[in-house]
Amino acid sequence: MNSLPKSILGRSGLDVSKLGFGSMELRGTDHFPRLTSRQAGTLLNAVVDNGINFIDTSPDYGYAEILLGEHLAQRRSEFFLASKCGCPIEDVEVPHDRRKPHDFSCGNVRAGVEQSLRRLRTDYLDLVQFHLSPSRTELTSQDSIAELLKLKDEGKLRFIGISGTLPHLADHIAMQVFDVIQTPYSLVERDHEELMHQAALNNIGVIIRGGVARAVMVKDAALINDYPAFLQPGFRARRQLWQQTRVEDLLQGMTVMEFMLRFTLSNPDMNTTIVGTANPEHLLANVKVAARGALPADIYAEACQRFPKSPATGLVV
Ligand SMILES: NC(=O)c1ccc[n+]([C@@H]2O[C@H](COP(=O)([O-])OP(=O)(O)OC[C@H]3O[C@@H](n4cnc5c(N)ncnc54)[C@H](OP(=O)(O)O)[C@@H]3O)[C@@H](O)[C@H]2O)c1
Repeated sequence: MNSLPKSILGRSGLDVSKLGFGSMELRGTDHFPRLTSRQAGTLLNAVVDNGINFIDTSPDYGYAEILLGEHLAQRRSEFFLASKCGCPIEDVEVPHDRRKPHDFSCGNVRAGVEQSLRRLRTDYLDLVQFHLSPSRTELTSQDSIAELLKLKDEGKLRFIGISGTLPHLADHIAMQVFDVIQTPYSLVERDHEELMHQAALNNIGVIIRGGVARAVMVKDAALINDYPAFLQPGFRARRQLWQQTRVEDLLQGMTVMEFMLRFTLSNPDMNTTIVGTANPEHLLANVKVAARGALPADIYAEACQRFPKSPATGLVV
């Protein structure tokens, strides 16, 4: 087994591998091809066999929770499991250019967590995160946080968190109720870097998504057209930023994916980055890269100089 670097996830105290696993790519809906049960079993067991001990999922990720329950319930003690709440608990068809409507009422928060427990075939979640960055007002007006804390008292979850982005993330940190935040961050999307630092100063765990920029830097640009319309402008802006910035002298034999992932892993405020993949070869490549750890300090410093901290995209999603 590769020895992946680890980090303590803020006040939760969970000792997580810095490379986590995002299960959204297993959703088997929209433009994500559905893996067979056998393929999913091979992939998910490889996640745990390779020392990844933090897995992120959501009721929004189609079949992902079901596949995790089917293949990893027997190995529940070997990893930390995070899901989301506020998502629709029934399958909801929405046009490709819209987000599914989310509902942070107590009833839907509770129903979502209980559904996740059934699908994941477990009696507790290590972490439940409010999905889609609801505002403080949206959360407090419906007593949603109190409901999550009740579920915690009932032993159904251990820690609470929020998937937060601008403009609400500063507020989420200031509320001092969340053990953990999950936020997008990469070399080409450094918009949340200061807030990640604020979170870390407050002993709030920091989970990164988008840490390899959803691979749109290395895949064919035309693939961006397959994503929902509301994601496309941000992807194009980040791709353009990548193409405009000179990096050849920094790569020093690394692939673009290695450079991207190790940049994310170099951020001292990040505890785990949940890279998503449905491809076992990509998984193993990511594990190998993560085992190499942070970029050399001089390369990291130079990359920080060349890529702006706050790209003026205003397109955080
Ligand atoms: N809280 C939220 O609102 C939210 C939103 C989005 C995602 N997430 C979570 O974050 C996780 C990560 O998703 P993300 O959207 O942020 O994307 P990401 O991890 O930056 O990138 C995922 C993409 O990178 C590709 N990839 C991964 N490793 C690769 C490699 N070695 N070589 C080439 N391509 C590679 C994957 O394709 P292949 O399958 O082909 O490898 C996938 O398309 C999700 O699974 C989910 O758990 C949360």
